[in-house]
Amino acid sequence: MENILTTTDGINFTTGEALLEFSYLVAAILFVMGLKLLSRPETARKGNIWAAAGMVLAMVTTLLLHKDPEGNPISLSNALFILIAIAFAGTLGWIIARRIKMTAMPQLVSFFNATGGAASALVAFLEFPNVSGTGVIIVTLAGLTIGSISFSGSLIAYGKLDGKVGDIRASFMRYVNILLLIVVVVIIVLISSGNTGALQPQAAALILLTVAVIYGVMFVMPIGGADMPVVISLLNSFTGIAAAMAGFIYNNQAMILGGILVGSAGTILTILMCKAMNRSLLNVIIGAFGGGAAAATGEQGSIKEITVSDASILLAYSQKVVIVPGYGLAVAQAQHIASEMDELLTEKGVEVKYAIHPVAGRMPGHMNVLLAEADVPYDKLVEMDDINPNLPNTDVVMVIGANDVVNPASEDDPSSPIYGMPIIKAHTAKNVIVMKRGMGKGYAGIENALFFNDKTRMLFGNAKDSIQKLVTEIKSL
Ligand code: TAP
Repeated sequence: MENILTTTDGINFTTGEALLEFSYLVAAILFVMGLKLLSRPETARKGNIWAAAGMVLAMVTTLLLHKDPEGNPISLSNALFILIAIAFAGTLGWIIARRIKMTAMPQLVSFFNATGGAASALVAFLEFPNVSGTGVIIVTLAGLTIGSISFSGSLIAYGKLDGKVGDIRASFMRYVNILLLIVVVVIIVLISSGNTGALQPQAAALILLTVAVIYGVMFVMPIGGADMPVVISLLNSFTGIAAAMAGFIYNNQAMILGGILVGSAGTILTILMCKAMNRSLLNVIIGAFGGGAAAATGEQGSIKEITVSDASILLAYSQKVVIVPGYGLAVAQAQHIASEMDELLTEKGVEVKYAIHPVAGRMPGHMNVLLAEADVPYDKLVEMDDINPNLPNTDVVMVIGANDVVNPASEDDPSSPIYGMPIIKAHTAKNVIVMKRGMGKGYAGIENALFFNDKTRMLFGNAKDSIQKLVTEIKSL
């Protein structure tokens, strides 16, 4: 017989229930602390572990202490099923995450997000016959809808990022989407008010699930493939909200809190990404930026090239060098060799820093992760706003596979699709070396006046190969 504890408001708890609730509180604290630690590159790894520990704690205590409304614990056979599912999915997730290339990380996040949305939608669909009360029914149906949209939308986003799905745009799609949304709302109203007529409520819920899945596809389909990171972040927040709603169905505090944290973090990240690109969320969703529709200005003069030996002399005899890493550095996996070059230059007395743009690369924190992987000391990474005032005193800015984030059109060309986007002002430095394979455009699909600037010299080639050559040359100086 378990001890009964009574709160000051007269609510009775068994010791097991009290322990379970307490473990959820500890898990929630671990989630919040994990998120806080994730906000700095130095502590991000630790943050991941703390949040994962919170999740493990919530899972273990649920398995051991959860009781159904009749007071029965989880049966041994059910616990076995759950453990097999955790072991199978955990191993699969581990293998996929280990094998995935850094540049394919957005695809992975999108794919995992789709599974999260599907899980929340399934929980809502399966529990729907067991819930009662209009409020709970509405929450369940909302969770079902949002989870389904997140599932299919994330799969399309995954397909687009992986080049498997193209952009399909037609003006009528906007009207179809509005119509689908109206259908979703009508079905929710009919089910929650008990007016489904001859149709069983469960069958109506299945129709709702189907319409929501179709809406998810139609919602993401017209958005420019290049805008997918923002869309994924938005869908990620949807999944969080759906998970919180699933937690509401089970009255499970850990699920509600975890879901709310994912929902709010996803929303904040979406807003920050839009801000860093100087675009509104609405513009991302219907603006078709980067999907080929962006205006491309013509060439703006002639370019000058630099040889490896001239570049190495310029770098080795500079006092201050700032490296601006971008998406091309990630593609070339040039972070390790860039770090080796940095060490060589530092040994020669050159001050080397890295300028980090908030949306360089293809996912938030992309450059921080890459450079941390190459053991670049954190104090060498300087945020855009802090480095910009120092660039006029910098001898050489070395742009490695970056393009849009150093494009001065954002400041002086009001017709440019990136006008107003904050940039790293490489053009204000004394000398600029740009490393890229050719004259390929960046994510926004536009020309870059920096490449035609008098102070700029281009070092063409795959970033990793070019830096390797520079390293060999600097060593021989
Ligand atoms: P981009 O503007 O995309 O430019 C990358 C450049 O790298 C290309 O011009 C390409 O030129 C070069 N490149 C590709 N492969 C290379 C290789 N192997 N070696 C050397 N160079 C290579 O990159 P960025 O400056 O990092 O800007 C990021 C863009 O992504 C921004 O427009 C941003 O708004 C957008 N975006 C970012 C995020 C996040 S959260 N990071 C989210 C959404 C959108 P070549 O083909 O000539 O080599």
